[in-house]
Amino acid sequence: MMLGLFLPIQAGGWTGSTLQRTTTWTFDYNAALARQAEDLGFDIVFGLAQFLPKGGYNAVQNGTGIDSFITVGALAAITSRILLISTVHVLYGPWHPLHFAKFGATLDHISKGRWGVNVVTGHRTVEHEMFGWPQIEHDRRYELADEFLAVVQHLWAADENSLYAGESWRMKGAYVTPKPLFGRPVIVNATGSGAGIDFAAKHSDIVFISSPTGTAFETAIEALPDHVANVKRAARRVGREVKVIINPMVIIGETEDAANDYAEAIIAHSVTEGGVFGHIKSDAHAWAKRKEYDTPRQRALGGGNLQIIGGPEQVAESIARLKEAGIDGVQLSFFDFAPDLALFGARVLPLLKARGLRL
Ligand SMILES: Cc1cc2nc3c(=O)[nH]c(=O)nc-3n(C[C@H](O)[C@H](O)[C@H](O)COP(=O)(O)O)c2cc1C
Repeated sequence: MMLGLFLPIQAGGWTGSTLQRTTTWTFDYNAALARQAEDLGFDIVFGLAQFLPKGGYNAVQNGTGIDSFITVGALAAITSRILLISTVHVLYGPWHPLHFAKFGATLDHISKGRWGVNVVTGHRTVEHEMFGWPQIEHDRRYELADEFLAVVQHLWAADENSLYAGESWRMKGAYVTPKPLFGRPVIVNATGSGAGIDFAAKHSDIVFISSPTGTAFETAIEALPDHVANVKRAARRVGREVKVIINPMVIIGETEDAANDYAEAIIAHSVTEGGVFGHIKSDAHAWAKRKEYDTPRQRALGGGNLQIIGGPEQVAESIARLKEAGIDGVQLSFFDFAPDLALFGARVLPLLKARGLRL
């Protein structure tokens, strides 16, 4: 089972609660977390990307945050083994594929092949407007990203100068060297829609999914086997294999009771009112069902696309059940990252090793 840490490079991490915690969006905090994860033997650290208007989602998740491409890229110089995944909105700017290919090859060399990218197309309406246009239609975004990534991949592989005149990008005599050390960086795509899964099947090594139902573990675990199989089938249809990861929010305590008390305290200090995206409009298929399934308490607890609440045994058991559901890796979020990750390392990792899920 791959183990990843979802870095809180944005204020409030994944939870709008004022309960006291160490979590901050600063580079120093996230750099220390990346080192902590690496020391524990984690495989991946990962940063999300978002452009939020003033005020963000709520008083805690207030929109302050550092850029994923730059922050996670900077970790290349201060880590030595862990895979680093930056999230990039490839359609904003617009980025030119030549920029992206050159910057990616640079980070690939700095990290010695440990840098990869989560390619996203922008599900928040307000982000497209910030860049100066109305939100591009959902499936059309994946067509554009497909062209973008095809050009980038070509530049990473090409031995000669390239001439290209496509629908959205053009270049003449373009060339990128050095080449990435292992052909190309790891490519990830976070999605839940048909168009997104087809895109990921074609381009990605890792597909980052959400629960097709709500964040409650027991409903998610029923729906996941079919969803994961569907993603893997889509890749096989185009002759490829992909790994599937998901991002649980882990509310961990020394005991089950302590974890439940922790969850209650987080909820009691909640400042969220508007649900997952609050007042920020999104057309993401990946989270569409959360509005339908999630209770106000689950929304207040926040997190990624799944919630695991428990003592070390329950957390290990839940991760084992995700593995049985076909999941290849978990990208963990916590409420209070540094101490919760330390507890996970001390108490859950040995249980995962005993179950044969980790070496
Ligand atoms: C687990 C997961 C993580 C994501 N991380 C980001 C992110 O950091 N930034 C972003 O703009 N979108 C992110 N997304 C949103 C997706 O990129 C995508 O825009 C969204 O899911 C809508 O596409 P879909 O309808 O294909 O699911 C994430 C989605 C998932 C499922």
